[in-house]
Amino acid sequence: MTKRDYLSGLELTAGETLDLLERAVVQKQETKAGKRHTSLAGKNFALLFEKTSTRTRVSFQVGVAQLGGTSLFLSPKDTQLSRGETLADSAMVLSEYVDGLIVRTFGHDRIEELAENASIPVINGLTDLHHPCQAIADFLTLRERFGRAKGLKVAYLGDGNNVTHSLLLVGALIGVSISAACAPGFEPDEGVVSRARGLAASSGAEVVITSDVQEACSGAHAVYTDVWVSMGQENEANRRKKALAPYQVNEDVFRDAVPGAIFMHCLPAHRGEEVEDEMIDGPRSAVIQQAGNRLHAQKILLELLAGEKNGV
Ligand code: CP
Ligand code: NVA
Repeated sequence: MTKRDYLSGLELTAGETLDLLERAVVQKQETKAGKRHTSLAGKNFALLFEKTSTRTRVSFQVGVAQLGGTSLFLSPKDTQLSRGETLADSAMVLSEYVDGLIVRTFGHDRIEELAENASIPVINGLTDLHHPCQAIADFLTLRERFGRAKGLKVAYLGDGNNVTHSLLLVGALIGVSISAACAPGFEPDEGVVSRARGLAASSGAEVVITSDVQEACSGAHAVYTDVWVSMGQENEANRRKKALAPYQVNEDVFRDAVPGAIFMHCLPAHRGEEVEDEMIDGPRSAVIQQAGNRLHAQKILLELLAGEKNGV
């Protein structure tokens, strides 16, 4: 069977992604009720991370363990990659040992090169361009809060980054409208936006890119933001914080949102920058549920790509 990767989030169809969300709701309830799952029994995974992580690392390692598998965490200092071994050789060698690779890195071309050379599924745990595992956890959270994901509207405020790109692509795929209000010069990647518009035409979602916060938030079921300085952009911090200051999420931006609209953030957050303390710590905030859902959405993803009957 041909192996399947999950790099941009578009490797799964709309139907498979919606089905993943439904299965995650059920498996989450079963796990909380004490049922044990063994779909990854005998399977081993490696996490190859070139950037720091709390949620992605822990949720993948615990998720694999809950499904009966094992995992290894490899930081740059632990592998020969840092001493110049090629990505291609590393991917081919790791494919001899493990059943799947979860990667966090900088340029998206690095994960693509690993995936091209690996004979096992490669899953994107964040690159500079995409963060699809975050998006599936976020749509699971919306599904839990509103009873459905399809047909909802998410407003995204601030920096058009990897998290924005995955919300746009996976949202457009499954029929969630995304309105992103970004500071001039900080809009999402044009290629990603145009791909999302193409998908939205089939799913019925809307894709709007604007600089107007109230336009983006009007009728929104959720207002989402992310840090203004992503990993690897530390030397641009001052310029970014100045340009993005008008995009802070506070109660005012919810003026025209639907009643009961929620606040979302992938975390880690910088309180007092992209979001006011009162908002992230207040009743609208869904951020801890989002973080928790990383575990449940990714477990179904692992089953789909590497579980019995589905793996290579
Ligand atoms: N949201 C997210 O990916 O968190 P980590 O950087 O802690 O993995
Ligand atoms: N945009 C952020 C997301 C962190 C989970 C970053 O890339 O640093």
